[in-house]
Amino acid sequence: MSIDNNQNIKGIILAGGAGTRLYPLTKITSKQLLPVYDKPMIFYPLSVLVNAGVKEIMIITTKEDQENFKKLLGYGTDWGVNIDYIVQKEPEGIAQSLMICEDWINNSSVALILGDNLFFGPNFNELLIDAINNNQGATIFCIESDTPERFGVIDFDEDFKVLSIEEKPKDPKTNWIVTGLYIYDKSASSLAHTLKKSNRGEFEITDLNMIYLNNKKLNVKKLDSSFSWLDTGTFDTLLEASNYVKNLEKN
Ligand code: TTP
Repeated sequence: MSIDNNQNIKGIILAGGAGTRLYPLTKITSKQLLPVYDKPMIFYPLSVLVNAGVKEIMIITTKEDQENFKKLLGYGTDWGVNIDYIVQKEPEGIAQSLMICEDWINNSSVALILGDNLFFGPNFNELLIDAINNNQGATIFCIESDTPERFGVIDFDEDFKVLSIEEKPKDPKTNWIVTGLYIYDKSASSLAHTLKKSNRGEFEITDLNMIYLNNKKLNVKKLDSSFSWLDTGTFDTLLEASNYVKNLEKN
């Protein structure tokens, strides 16, 4: 299975951010360069895009860390893709990526993945390719979580149509949460420019997804229990991810 020839899609990996929850480690290096078992974290989201067949990939970093990403990944030759780099001056939100990459995106569709998100599952690659080939508007991927209040939470009607997405709600309506992988059509950058910063000073990806939802152009793919999603932003989840990968490789 592969991406259809008529799909003009580029990939963005968000590897900037402040990484405050991993201080002091992230005072001297980027979170996405830390090891997850035997590989730097960024190898995992990069593999997601590469395995799906995305050939043009932009890595967003802080100014200080860009050089180390270049040392690690170069221009993508070893991975069989073209890798470019762009600096995000301040961590002003995930949706800002679509603004700073607008010229590079140049009217393509985009697969956006967070640099600290790991996805595993028997048919994950096929699921992503299928989602890219059939994307109309935006497609997001959701999974059940024991701690939905830490994430964007989706509420559905009985036909599994999305009713709302709430960012870190105190009282989550469901335990289905939005993971850090998003597919957008070519209008994403111009829609991102219409966003206002949230109370925490960020251009929120949830607000962009809400625009697609209100335009009836938000598709949701459910990741069932055969999939695993790991967000490695805290010491505990980083350790869990390393143990998960170790077990996966041993078995
Ligand atoms: P977060 O984990 O939400 O933020 P963070 O990495 O700054 O960490 P902390 O909350 O501990 O301070 O970010 C999710 C991913 O998105 C992560 O890979 C960093 C990336 N990111 C950016 O590249 N730019 C941004 O402006 C933000 C908010 C995140």
